[in-house]
Amino acid sequence: MTPINGESLYGGAVHRRVTIVDLAAAKKRGEKWAMLTAYESMTAEIFDEAGIPVLLVGDSAGNNFLGEENTIPVTVDELIPLARAVVRGSKRALVVADLPFGSYEASADLALATSIRFFKESGVMAVKLEGAHTETVKKLVASGIPVMGHLGLTPQSMHQLGGYRVQGRTDGDAIVEAALALEAAGAFAIVLELVPAELAARITAALSIPTVGIGAGVNCDAQVLVWTDLMGITKKAPKLAKAYRNLRAEMLAATTEFADDVRAGNFPTEAQTFN
Ligand code: KIV
Repeated sequence: MTPINGESLYGGAVHRRVTIVDLAAAKKRGEKWAMLTAYESMTAEIFDEAGIPVLLVGDSAGNNFLGEENTIPVTVDELIPLARAVVRGSKRALVVADLPFGSYEASADLALATSIRFFKESGVMAVKLEGAHTETVKKLVASGIPVMGHLGLTPQSMHQLGGYRVQGRTDGDAIVEAALALEAAGAFAIVLELVPAELAARITAALSIPTVGIGAGVNCDAQVLVWTDLMGITKKAPKLAKAYRNLRAEMLAATTEFADDVRAGNFPTEAQTFN
């Protein structure tokens, strides 16, 4: 891996955080990058060591960490400690926090107050919000808060959208317009979730800021996965995810071995014993 030297977002030699300026430069030179969710410090440390330039403390913590059914119930008070842990666990990554459902939609002022809490109480360097809230994005950016947009399937609106369905098959132009409006409002990147690959490619070509795909084809500037999907921990991962490992099976095996050892009197051994 090469250091951040104007030529790559990846690497560990230079100990400074990736910034939104680095991401803009990556788009210009056509460098693709990976983003991962993180919800606590140990995984953040591992992903940071692997050179992942952007970590998202997603509201997916609701269903992937806190045991909720979906992202809707998770609160600001629940996400802030997780965000602080991810900031503490990482040295290089730009850490982005999701604004949870109910914490920003009512007004730009509410979004600003929530974002300020995330900045002061967790130390994240940017926030993400779902939908085309362009006035809100303008206000946050004018206040010094970088904003990542999120279009296509916006899970906080799952009841309005009729579930987790591909978006933009018939109204692709509206998503293109929303993306352009978010860019004009000052967003530094936009997540495109569950949209046809051709539409995502069109949006990526139309924008000068990076697109981050999830279920949006290979032509986005970046790709994001929920980390428990990547590692094969999620019991029923969505089609858009790829499990690169089967950690669920590994963890189950290790846990069973430990329990068996304890039952058989084989743990602790001499190595874990103090005289
Ligand atoms: O909360 C989350 O994990 C997300 C990603 C799927 C982009 O919003």
